[in-house]
Amino acid sequence: MIYITRRETFNAAHRVYNPDWSNEKNDEVFGKCANPNWHGHNYTLYVTVKGNPDPQTGFVANLKDLSLLIKKYICDVIDHKNLNLDVPFMKGKMTSTENLIIAIWDELKKHIPELGNCELHAIKLYETENNYCEYFGS
Ligand code: NI
Repeated sequence: MIYITRRETFNAAHRVYNPDWSNEKNDEVFGKCANPNWHGHNYTLYVTVKGNPDPQTGFVANLKDLSLLIKKYICDVIDHKNLNLDVPFMKGKMTSTENLIIAIWDELKKHIPELGNCELHAIKLYETENNYCEYFGS
């Protein structure tokens, strides 16, 4: 079994706050991420698929096609958007990196079969250079 990874980037605005809490409690828990007038991050996304090399191509998946798939279903939907307001698959969710990576997984999982005989294995999502999440689907 071979694991191959494609890296893509996007940037997006968000505000992490719980509408059921006071401004003070939101500030205390989320700090600058609760800023009412939004703020942005430059996200880096790593998508890993697994499978066995195809005898005709030697590829687990064509990385060009994986790139196009990530761009079409994720980056084009999120890039230069507001995660709280503009992104259908984040509607009604706290826009933490944790929730974003689960939503990205769910979107990609539907479309990975378009690449042929490989499976989605893992996603890594960097919100900053120092903070990232990984998700393996459960
Ligand atoms: Ni933030």
